[in-house]
Amino acid sequence: MTTVDDVAPELVESFETTIGHHDRIEPRDWMPEGYRRTLVRQIAQHAHSEIIGMQPEGNWLTRAPSLRRKAILLAKVQDEAGHGLYLYSACETLGVSRQQLTEMLISGAQKYSSIFNYPTPSWADVGTIGWLVDGAAICNQVPLCRTSYGPYGRAMIRICKEESFHQRQGYELLMTMMRGTDEQREMVQESVDRFWWPALMMFGPPDDDSPNTAQSMEWGIKRHTNDELRQRFVDMSVPQAEALGVTLPDPELRWNEERGAHDFGAIDWDEFWTVVKGGGPCNAQRIAHRKRAWDDGAWVREAATAFARRSAS
Ligand SMILES: [Fe+2]
Ligand SMILES: [Fe+2]
Repeated sequence: MTTVDDVAPELVESFETTIGHHDRIEPRDWMPEGYRRTLVRQIAQHAHSEIIGMQPEGNWLTRAPSLRRKAILLAKVQDEAGHGLYLYSACETLGVSRQQLTEMLISGAQKYSSIFNYPTPSWADVGTIGWLVDGAAICNQVPLCRTSYGPYGRAMIRICKEESFHQRQGYELLMTMMRGTDEQREMVQESVDRFWWPALMMFGPPDDDSPNTAQSMEWGIKRHTNDELRQRFVDMSVPQAEALGVTLPDPELRWNEERGAHDFGAIDWDEFWTVVKGGGPCNAQRIAHRKRAWDDGAWVREAATAFARRSAS
C-alpha cells in the first residue's frame, strides 16, 4: 500500500491542489490509498444498488396494467441496468474487476441501498418507487455530478438525466391512480405509507453516526452531509404529496418558520441497521436471485472470453 510518506511530495501536492480547486482527479493521477478505497466502496455500493434495484420493479413487468405502462416500466428497468454498467466501469478504473465486485456483492462483503430489501406487493409501488426512491436518489446524486473523481462524476451526469425521467413517470403514474377510483387512491396511500420512512433512510445514518462523511467531504467525494440531503428531500416531497392528495405518514411533519424547513419525526434507526445487516424482508431473496443470474450467465462470460482470446491471436 502506498502511503503519503513514501510518494514524491509533488504528487501529493498535485492531488491536494486538484481537490482544492474542485477539479477532477483522473484514473492516471496519483491518489491516496484511502481515497481510492473510499471511492471503490461508494461506487460499488451505488452500482450494486442499480442492479439489485431492478428486482422490486421487475416483479411487475409481466403484470403491468397496459401495454403503455409495460413499455415505460421496461425502459426504466433497462435504464437501471445501464446505470449499473456505467458505475461498474467507473469502478474498474480504480483497479478492481467487475468479477471481484460481483463476488463481493454476492458474499455480502459490499452493500447496496437498503430500500431494495422491501417488497413490492402492489402496482402502486411502481409509482411510489419512481416518485420517492428515484426522487431520493436524485437528491443524493445531483451533487455527485461535481464529485472529485472524473469517471464517477461523468457517469452521474447521464444517470441523473435518466433518474429525472424515472421520478416523473412514477409521479405521473400515482397522479393517474389518484384520479381513478377509491380503491386506486387507497392503493396509493397504502404504498406511500410503506415507502416513506425507508425512503428517508436512503440518505444513510444521521451525521453524528456517519464516521466517513468528514473525510469524504474533505476529498470532494461527497458535497453535502446525509442530514442536509435528507432535509432537502423532505422539503421537496411535502408540496408534491399535497398536489398528489396523499398524506405522508408522519404526525410530526410540519413547517418550521424559524428554520425555513420542515421538522419531521424520528427515524427508526434500529430498523435501518437490521435491514443493512441482512435482516430486511427481502435481503436473502435479492441476493439469491442475483447469484442465480450470475451463475446462469457463466457460459456467456466464458464464451466471450474465449472469443476475445481467439480474435486477438
Ligand atoms: Fe438508476
Ligand atoms: Fe432510477
